[in-house]
Amino acid sequence: MSRSHPTDPLLARDAAVMWHPYTQHALGEPPLPVASAHGAWLNLTDGRRLLDAVSSWWVNLHGHGHPALVSALSAQAARLEHVLFAGCTHEPAVHLGERLIALANAGGANVERVFYSDNGSTAVEVALKIAFQAAQQRGETGRTRFLALHGAYHGDTFGAMAVGEPEGFHSVFRPLLAPVDFIRPDDLATLNWTLETRGHEYAAMIVEPLVQGAAGMRMYSAGFLAEAARLCRGRGVALIADEVFTGFGRTGTMFAFEQAGVSPDLICLSKGLTAGMLPLAATLATRALFECFQGEGVDRAFLHGHSFMANPLACAVANASLDLLLEPAAIARRAELAEQTRRHVAALRSHRGLKNPRSLGLIGAADLRNGTGAYGSSASRRLRAEAATRGVLLRPLGDVLYAVPPYCVTDEELATIWRVLGEIAAP
Ligand SMILES: Cc1ncc(COP(=O)(O)O)c(C=O)c1O
Repeated sequence: MSRSHPTDPLLARDAAVMWHPYTQHALGEPPLPVASAHGAWLNLTDGRRLLDAVSSWWVNLHGHGHPALVSALSAQAARLEHVLFAGCTHEPAVHLGERLIALANAGGANVERVFYSDNGSTAVEVALKIAFQAAQQRGETGRTRFLALHGAYHGDTFGAMAVGEPEGFHSVFRPLLAPVDFIRPDDLATLNWTLETRGHEYAAMIVEPLVQGAAGMRMYSAGFLAEAARLCRGRGVALIADEVFTGFGRTGTMFAFEQAGVSPDLICLSKGLTAGMLPLAATLATRALFECFQGEGVDRAFLHGHSFMANPLACAVANASLDLLLEPAAIARRAELAEQTRRHVAALRSHRGLKNPRSLGLIGAADLRNGTGAYGSSASRRLRAEAATRGVLLRPLGDVLYAVPPYCVTDEELATIWRVLGEIAAP
């Protein structure tokens, strides 16, 4: 297809007016024209079908167009589509909040409050702001910095960029960002020393528990997270678990922090929260943090809100998704898929074009042996195109090939994904 004259009318119209995320438009690569989607499959306007091996940017859990979610959405739309959440409340939001708290606490957390927003980045902004304002209101006014991990990705808004990898693609914004210090995952000695000497300067430490998704599915030890949580607690530094990617079963447990036996002060949720049907996010907080905002004057309150926070449609869909997620058969199926993923990934150990195969739960990844490392490199664009010709939607992260399929994949579909991944990486 030519750069300037796409033949599909939709692509021509798209090329005239759309500005896509993470896209160099000067390269003129046409997007995939998607007409509909069912289960793990995307149907394109030109008749092609693609297996969605990336769960549409890690949001989809039960497959596209799941009937239980569609009916929850339409039933809720007929009842209450939206109302402001300042000074109003509604059943879907409260019910979902109660369930999220119960689920997080069943995994070892000790949270009591839910603050809604719309996307993963805002869930992170909210957590950072709560931790900072709480410290200020406790009188710990020297806590003006955050701690984060090298390789981190927490979103694209200013607070979220600040706690993302400092040398990464956000670095152009660094002069505008909040002060943050970075520790390498698994570098306990530096973390210990930093908290020992300067622990009183930090309002919070934020981590993606166990898997740094956007960094290239980099995995680190549960032991490091457990020790980080212990050290943070000892120095009065709030621990923020960003479970935007890892939440809702991706890593084999409901939340990844459970595997480290830690109890975060703040938990950020989005993506799988609505199983990929609608935008919604939640930041869960402990009672101690919530209490820092109590007082006579409104100035002590958390003065933050979004027009569409706690959107009833999104909350209703999220509740329907939790019903599906918690069915015993679904839990057993996720365990099977995790085991199959482990085996498919282990089989790549002898692959000549790949190295460092790794998996956790339903996340599997491996690095190109001779890659360049660059995010959006021509290699990753070529691999994406080759996977698409073989009927699979993949989005390599620089050198890293990975699959994060929806939980509705069949054994055969999962095998296809890993076969195609191995084929396109062949040297
Ligand atoms: C761990 C993590 N946090 C936050 C975000 C940002 O979420 P959103 O794209 O919904 O703003 C992402 C997105 O990939 C993520 O992986």
